[in-house]
Amino acid sequence: MASIVTIGGSPSAVSRTNTLIDHLQRQLEADGHTVTAVRVRDLDAPALLQGRTDTHSIQTALAAVGAANAVIIATPVYKAAYTGVLKVFLDVLPANSFAGKAVLPIVGGGWANHALVLDYALKPVLAALGASVILSGAFLIDSEFVKLEDGSGFTFSENLQEKARDLYHSLTAVIK
Ligand SMILES: Cc1cc2nc3c(=O)[nH]c(=O)nc-3n(C[C@H](O)[C@H](O)[C@H](O)COP(=O)(O)O)c2cc1C
Repeated sequence: MASIVTIGGSPSAVSRTNTLIDHLQRQLEADGHTVTAVRVRDLDAPALLQGRTDTHSIQTALAAVGAANAVIIATPVYKAAYTGVLKVFLDVLPANSFAGKAVLPIVGGGWANHALVLDYALKPVLAALGASVILSGAFLIDSEFVKLEDGSGFTFSENLQEKARDLYHSLTAVIK
C-alpha cells in the first residue's frame, strides 16, 4: 500500500480544489492507502513568506512530502498561474523533492481558456522538483461544482464525478 501526500494550494477555507482532493483522500484510505493532507493555508505564513522552514507546521509538511510515494497537488488558477500560496510552499521544498514519486496535478479555474495553467505553469514546476512520473491530471471548471445551500462546501456535477473517477484510476494504476 502506498503513502500519499495531498498538497492543497487554495487560500480559501471552503475550496473547490480541496473538496476534490479530500474526496480522493477518502477513496484512497478506503482502499488501504495512507494519506496525509497538507493545506498550505494552514502552515506558518510569515515563515513561508521569509523562506524559512524552522516551524513545526512546515517541518511536518516537509516530512510528509519526503515520506510519500505519490503526491496529489491541487491549485486554483489565480491571475493565470497557480496560487502564490502554493508557490511559497514549493519554494521551501528541498531540491528534487518529487524524485521517485508519481505526481497527480489538479488545477481549478473560472475560465476554460486558463486550462493551459495545468500544462504550462504547474507541470514545469513539478518537473523542476524532479517528479518521476507526472500524470495527465485535470483542469476543473467552477461550474462543475455545486455549492451546498448552507455555503459549507461543494458537491460534484456528474461530469466532475466522472473526472474524479478517472483521476483516481490514473493514480492507483501507477502506485500499485
Ligand atoms: C484572486 C483570484 C484570482 C483568480 N484568477 C483566475 C484566473 O486568472 N483564471 C481563472 O480561470 N480563474 C481565476 N480565478 C477563479 C478561481 O481559480 C476558481 O474560482 C477556482 O475554482 C477556485 O478554487 P478554490 O475554490 O479551490 O479556491 C481567480 C479567483 C481569485 C479569488
